[in-house]
Amino acid sequence: MSYDSLAREKQAALIERGHATVLAIETSCDETACAIVKDGREVLSNVVHTQIPLHRKYGGVVPELASRNHVERIGAVVEKALEDANLGLKDIDAVAVTCGPGLVGALLVGVSYAKGLSLAGNLPLIGTNHILGHIAANYLTFPDLEPPFTALIASGGHSHIVRVHDYDRCTLIGRTRDDAAGEAFDKVARVLGLPYPGGPELEKLAREGDPKAFRFRSAFNEREDEFDMSFSGLKTAVINLLHTAEQKGEEVNRADVAASFQYEVVSILSDKAVRAAFDTLVLAGGVSANAALREALAKKAKKKGIRFCCPDFLYCTDNAAMIGSAGFYLLMKGHRDGLDLNATPYLSVVSE
Ligand code: KG4
Ligand code: ZN
Repeated sequence: MSYDSLAREKQAALIERGHATVLAIETSCDETACAIVKDGREVLSNVVHTQIPLHRKYGGVVPELASRNHVERIGAVVEKALEDANLGLKDIDAVAVTCGPGLVGALLVGVSYAKGLSLAGNLPLIGTNHILGHIAANYLTFPDLEPPFTALIASGGHSHIVRVHDYDRCTLIGRTRDDAAGEAFDKVARVLGLPYPGGPELEKLAREGDPKAFRFRSAFNEREDEFDMSFSGLKTAVINLLHTAEQKGEEVNRADVAASFQYEVVSILSDKAVRAAFDTLVLAGGVSANAALREALAKKAKKKGIRFCCPDFLYCTDNAAMIGSAGFYLLMKGHRDGLDLNATPYLSVVSE
């Protein structure tokens, strides 16, 4: 029988059983990651090799270097994930892999490796959306959480408010018109002289500053009838403030700038997301590691009387466990890809 027929049969049996141990691979940006996840909720192993030290000297991710480093690391990372879970390929039921959005060369490394594993074990291959994965990080943290709910996605490339109707279906409520929240954090961190990745560094610096020292406003975000957001105006306001001070030879308290900028971004994200939510609000994406954002959302959600969920810190930034969870549900809903699965750099999370 052909690979395709065997994988189809295997998937049908898994759906019938309602259980599956999924090996998941994530290589969309600068983390080479593999995890083994049982039934979408139980993490048996979770290995992340970060390339941050490699990219730090360039101040951002260099795509070509990222791809090459994924190629060098992927084999060892997958082996380690199997070893940590005390499993062999024979114990794996399906392979999930991030197929977009992300850097095309980086994605292709994971996709190609996942194809090899699927073919070797005649296992169903599940191309998984990275953003759906970030949302699924919450399924790992909250065993009872199920769609439908409203989600705020804030990562390096995305700032979306979506309605998650089902494990495989989201519709758009609002999105950034320009920079993503994480991107804005990274750019402002850079002008403040902080190393890459800027988000966590800016958060650290902000802890020492006064969030009310400066007011970086952008009129667009103050519209009550609008769920779209804009962050590039805030970034420009910070840059202008620093340049003007520099030209005048004045000292600016960098911690105050960081705290004021963070305060504004957190206010925009939390106000809009809580306004959009009416039952449960879920936070997802790398910026979900930001304590100020988590606190503001928790507080505002409580005030509105709705549930708020955010992932364990471990699953906030890129990892493969979240892909294993999302992949499990896609598998159970009958999604499966052939060996012609491609990387899609601008893959959207919303279906219309
Ligand atoms: O989800 P992620 O790991 O990768 C993408 O899919 O983009 O998100 C990375 C982004 C970066 O922009 C990073 O600066 C930001 O998340 N980030 C943070 C924090 N931790 C990560 N931003 C603010 N505060 C943090 N603690
Ligand atoms: Zn991500």
